[in-house]
Amino acid sequence: MVSYKELGLVNTREMFAKAIDGGYAIPAFNFNNMEQLQAIIMAAAETKSPVILQVSKGARAYANQTLLRYMAQGAVEYAKELGWEKPQICLHLDHGDSFETCKSCVDFGFSSVMIDGSSLPYDENVALTKKVVEYAHKYDVTVEAELGVLAGVEDEVSAEESHYTKPEEVIDFVSKTGCDSLAISIGTSHGAYKFKPEQCTVDPATGRLVPPPLAFDVLAEVEKKLPGFPIVLHGSSSVPQDEVDTINSHGGKLQAAVGIPEEQLRKAAKSAVCKINIDSDSRLAMTAAVRRVFDEKPAEFDPRKYLGPARDNMKKLYIHKIVNVLGSDGKAE
Ligand code: G3H
Ligand code: 13P
Ligand code: ZN
Repeated sequence: MVSYKELGLVNTREMFAKAIDGGYAIPAFNFNNMEQLQAIIMAAAETKSPVILQVSKGARAYANQTLLRYMAQGAVEYAKELGWEKPQICLHLDHGDSFETCKSCVDFGFSSVMIDGSSLPYDENVALTKKVVEYAHKYDVTVEAELGVLAGVEDEVSAEESHYTKPEEVIDFVSKTGCDSLAISIGTSHGAYKFKPEQCTVDPATGRLVPPPLAFDVLAEVEKKLPGFPIVLHGSSSVPQDEVDTINSHGGKLQAAVGIPEEQLRKAAKSAVCKINIDSDSRLAMTAAVRRVFDEKPAEFDPRKYLGPARDNMKKLYIHKIVNVLGSDGKAE
């Protein structure tokens, strides 16, 4: 058993309380490898933003859970080396799918876990979430739960359609489970293809697809039922079109990729939404930079020559999100 406190990590309780009071959101960036982690830490340290390092079940399988834990511990020390005296870094399990996975993360030094019972019948979601909360809270690890189903693929949970969170269920769910934050469904979804072209309109000036707005009425209803309670938005990548263009102009094939417009996320960040999950945008930034090097310098084969630019591009993206979208810069001085 390793406590996250020994690793210099923090749970989400205090950062969420401050974010709700301050009208901003904490970035939750997924990572799978060293370059992503370096870019996240450089961006957070430079902007003095609290940050959540998210690890999915797939990332744990890909990178090895022991290595990931030491990487997170290393991230805290690296942040200090970069001049961030009191780093506010949380290590979070993204989309935990069972009690056993969540327990193993708590035991392995995670400071926060998500139990995603959103695809289960309501009572089963309550029972599973409650069990995880009871275990995690013994170690002061915070727990994110989910009500409502996002469209697209949620790790191994797939749903054809999004089912918005039912505001009438949230008080009962939160009080029965004791969860610390709640992910809700208001029209976001995972991946780089969040809407079908037929769901969008076309901007006549640019020819780009314009997605339908998020269900802010559902968010407002949830906030009214749970004043001051931390709300989480998954599937919040914006799918930057310049990155998509770079990928496509260097041999990629991403057709009709579309995300959540940043102005909608800015609006959400000012509400009770205090954690915004971003993974796909980082994947796009990395892929765009790597493709550019491969295309422009076909003789290059030193990984540092393409992973270095990928890291720079991700760092730029993370800083942009922190400063221009979430507003979390300067909140962890
Ligand atoms: O919600 C899903 C995250 O983007 C993680 O994706 O399961 O492919 O690591 P992954
Ligand atoms: P995106 O695919 O929109 O980046 O969402 C990531 C996410 O929700 C991770 O849990
Ligand atoms: Zn998610």
